[in-house]
Amino acid sequence: TMPTMPNKPKILLARAIFPEVITHLEQFFDVESNQDDHIFSSTELIEKLQDKDGLIATGSEPVSAEVLRACPRLKAVCNQAVGYNNIDVAAATKAGVMVTNTPDVLNETTADFGWALLMATARRITESEHWLRAGKWNKWRFDSFLGADVHGATLGVIGMGRIGQAIARRSMGFDMQVLYHNRSRVSPELEARANNARLVSKEELLRQADHVILVLPYSKASHHTIGAAELAMMKPGATLVNLARGGIVDDVALIAALREHKIAAAGLDVFENEPALHPDFLTLSNVVLTPHIASASEPTRRAMAACAAANLLAALLPAAAGALPPN
Ligand code: DGY
Repeated sequence: TMPTMPNKPKILLARAIFPEVITHLEQFFDVESNQDDHIFSSTELIEKLQDKDGLIATGSEPVSAEVLRACPRLKAVCNQAVGYNNIDVAAATKAGVMVTNTPDVLNETTADFGWALLMATARRITESEHWLRAGKWNKWRFDSFLGADVHGATLGVIGMGRIGQAIARRSMGFDMQVLYHNRSRVSPELEARANNARLVSKEELLRQADHVILVLPYSKASHHTIGAAELAMMKPGATLVNLARGGIVDDVALIAALREHKIAAAGLDVFENEPALHPDFLTLSNVVLTPHIASASEPTRRAMAACAAANLLAALLPAAAGALPPN
């Protein structure tokens, strides 16, 4: 007779994922996947997790105290994201559930995208393309689509973590000055690598920066870091990029500031209540809108998936994880 396999831990993959990740995980786990990519409600999540030891989630699934309380077998929640504001970490800790994220693997890709958004916003790339596609280009004009300069300007980075540092480093090529605001000062070595970034108050940064980029995690403390009062401090020609999370910016206040040209333009990859956008964003020409894709390069999304899978293995089967070569 065949030796019986010991029971594998059971896991749920909350969203569609690269097939090779499923094949890899099936070596170690009894996997329930969700390749039709339906987003589970809290009720569905609770139902699916009754017999599960682990969950691979994304920012779309609310792993709330209620969900954690209702799933006593759960031991690990591994987010396929660096942000983890969808998870109640305090409730997880209390319940003995390990929580992991995917730091580092997306730093450079996300910083690249921050620059794409900043440049598109400052130089009015999507606005002018829409105009061109609408058949409105009938002559070259000296004063068409005048934008803000990026080179030689002052960059304000709010949130000087790994992604903020990667963004600041790239500004060396544009001969920029960098101001940053952060919970604490980063080391002088890291400041030097980040184009000699200088720590200032949020107010000073907003008053002096020509381009402000938000790369801080969302929490109750960072809710509406940028609201009407902060927008009023910015230069009239300034641009704002949000690469981090909806809710860090007060969208209603931003819409008013853009409409009244209190600032020149904004580039947004994230929104309050996404994927539902405040409809007024769609009526404004001085905003660049992208659907939360800053880390979405092919290699980086694969690296994020591999990282989450490795985290789950380390959490539920540490002995097996130790036997694998590092990825
Ligand atoms: C992240 O990694 O936090 C991105 O926002 C994708 O969810």
